[in-house]
Amino acid sequence: MNKKINSIKLEIENFKIENKKDLEIFRIEYVSKKNKISKIFNEIKNLETKEKKKVGHILNEIKEYVKKKFKNKKKEINKNEEIINKKFEDLTLPPGNKEIGSLHPITIIRYKIVSIFKKIGFTIIDGPEIENDWNNFTALNFPEKHPAREMQDTFFISKKPSILLRTHTSSVQIREMTNKKPPIRNISPGRVFRNEAISPRTHCVFHQIEGLYINKNINFYDLKETLFYFTKSMFGKKIKNRIRPSYFPFTEPSIEIDINCIICKGEGCKICKYTGWVEIMGAGMVDPNVLKNCKIDNKKYKGFAFGMGLERITMLKYKINDIRLFTENDLKFLKQFSNL
Ligand code: DAH
Repeated sequence: MNKKINSIKLEIENFKIENKKDLEIFRIEYVSKKNKISKIFNEIKNLETKEKKKVGHILNEIKEYVKKKFKNKKKEINKNEEIINKKFEDLTLPPGNKEIGSLHPITIIRYKIVSIFKKIGFTIIDGPEIENDWNNFTALNFPEKHPAREMQDTFFISKKPSILLRTHTSSVQIREMTNKKPPIRNISPGRVFRNEAISPRTHCVFHQIEGLYINKNINFYDLKETLFYFTKSMFGKKIKNRIRPSYFPFTEPSIEIDINCIICKGEGCKICKYTGWVEIMGAGMVDPNVLKNCKIDNKKYKGFAFGMGLERITMLKYKINDIRLFTENDLKFLKQFSNL
């Protein structure tokens, strides 16, 4: 009997419980109703009273030990499982990437420009990047074979019929004026394409924002006030503006707006070619021919239009000296705008 008890004691002490499975085996063997210790209890029935008491006492001690061991191990294993289930649901998954992306600088500036014009009643409209010759050139008063067409080197998709990648967002003007009745007051941001060599200052894909206002009694003063409101909202109240005469086939008169160079504060630098001024947009009064091409009564209605390059404004605003940075997707460059 003593041998038996010693061996079961050793067995219980050496039993390794490392997981749920071990725990269950341990339970069946030593804790359950028909456990090994109860079996020995049954066997001591026939022993002498004194011996029975002694052995019974030892067996009870073993029973207590079993209970304690089972309880402690159960607690330990459950806790481990909880940790595994909670914190490392799937240990084979790659670590979570908590890095948050940021807006592209061009997008930040687009949002800003859009919000400036929204405040004075302009709505935002969209147009396609693939255009026909009429919307991109002819209706905008570019006569066929006129050298003005060469101002913008075009990517053609087909020559006959003439389908192309729009060279400017001015094509959206034509779509709007053809499809809607005045008053029309909108801006149209979008991508444009020109067959140009890529350099620090030029790219073959870039962004513009076009603006158009058509109504009765619109005059040059409205154009000037609108654009000066824009430059002040965009670059600050202290910015200086100037208007220079220019030429675009679709406006008469045509102008360009300069602001004083915000890089050198007007003192003269490489960016402003030592003039102290930088051009930020083209504009003008919509040519009566363009209104006529869109079937708008040009005796009754007048309008102004303007167009600006988003890359140019962004480069000035953030002092970026190479247009190619916008499309290189270098995170070191892009991350600089995450707090803006
Ligand atoms: N479309 C012109 C360009 O790409 C920019 C422009 C100039 C737009 C004058 C206009 C405007 O609406 O009135 O260079």
